[in-house]
Amino acid sequence: MFISNDIRYIGVNDHDIDLFEGQYYMPRGMAYNSYVIIDEKIAVTDTVAENFYDEWLGNLKKELNGRNPDYIIVHHMEPDHSANLLKFSDDYPGCKIVASKQAFNMMKNFFGTDFADKQLVINDGDELSLGKHNLKFFSAPMVHWPEVMVSYDLADKVLFSADAFGKFGALDIEDPEGWACEARRYYFGIVGKFGVQVQALLKKLSDIEINTICPLHGPVLNEDLGYYLNLYNIWSSYGVETDGVVIAYTSVYGNTEKAVQILKEKLIEAGCPKVAVTDLARDDMAEAVEDAFRYGKIVLATTTYNGEIFPFMKQFIDTLTEHGFKNKTIGFIENGTWNPVAAKRMRSMLEECKNITFTENTVKIFSALKDENIEQINNLAKELVK
Ligand code: FEO
Repeated sequence: MFISNDIRYIGVNDHDIDLFEGQYYMPRGMAYNSYVIIDEKIAVTDTVAENFYDEWLGNLKKELNGRNPDYIIVHHMEPDHSANLLKFSDDYPGCKIVASKQAFNMMKNFFGTDFADKQLVINDGDELSLGKHNLKFFSAPMVHWPEVMVSYDLADKVLFSADAFGKFGALDIEDPEGWACEARRYYFGIVGKFGVQVQALLKKLSDIEINTICPLHGPVLNEDLGYYLNLYNIWSSYGVETDGVVIAYTSVYGNTEKAVQILKEKLIEAGCPKVAVTDLARDDMAEAVEDAFRYGKIVLATTTYNGEIFPFMKQFIDTLTEHGFKNKTIGFIENGTWNPVAAKRMRSMLEECKNITFTENTVKIFSALKDENIEQINNLAKELVK
């Protein structure tokens, strides 16, 4: 695939993967992207996941026309991109490895060598000339590991963005939901904790003109780049992307779920533009997490369980707090048959989050819904919409 006259796509699609990074459900596979810049010197950017070496090398060789690569650039050391570095280095012993100091330290841990005789250490702001193409490097620590660099080709105005702007899904399987849905699930699952660092990267990039973004996952982006940059700005600043309410719940015998359905109806009646409902025991947890960050308001509904809260809700709130959840309005629905403590427990788990407003109205169900609960639900809906 042509990115520009001298830049080609040489990545691969993984259709067999079940869980990315051991936890994210992959209904449409995954792409491991890699690129080659053909110039007086040839630079390859990153390898691919371990099982795809032969396919990737075949893609590369087709573009090399018998030449040998001069540089392999390692933007990110996570094994979905770097696993084949040792094999590649054995196959092309004259090829220099271009990476940050921290990436070379990681190579020693992964491969038992830091390739001392092949190192070209790069720092923030360094440039590498390939001939016509000059690559400028920007450090991007914690987007998504500490060693990450992104690079920018000054000739074709192409940004090699590492994991940033990545998306779940193989490139040869159509995604009917478009870019944002799986890019958001990817972002909040994988990079979401590091909003400050993503903001720092966006600031560094704000002065350069970008025609094309080449991420390590997902499609190459070359149109309407403002759309993607704007979403990254909202996500990394923990802003509100969509006006509405997300209700995340667990329900043991269906009574909490009934309350959730009534709240959804009341919110819609009160004029809430969008209500997203997720059952934390049955729906994809990573989808629930992305929705929690997407909307400005969230209602958490669960039961008291072993003097605590139901396990899926506990996992959900732990995931949110670990990922830097902030800037939200939060309401609660609790259910308990004796000594209900769920609302109190959920609130205390979220108290460490910054800029949180808890609603005045809480729905307190004792076992099954009563008239007073309908009134509480109504009041909560009104408070959330006002
Ligand atoms: Fe795609 Fe953080 O690796």
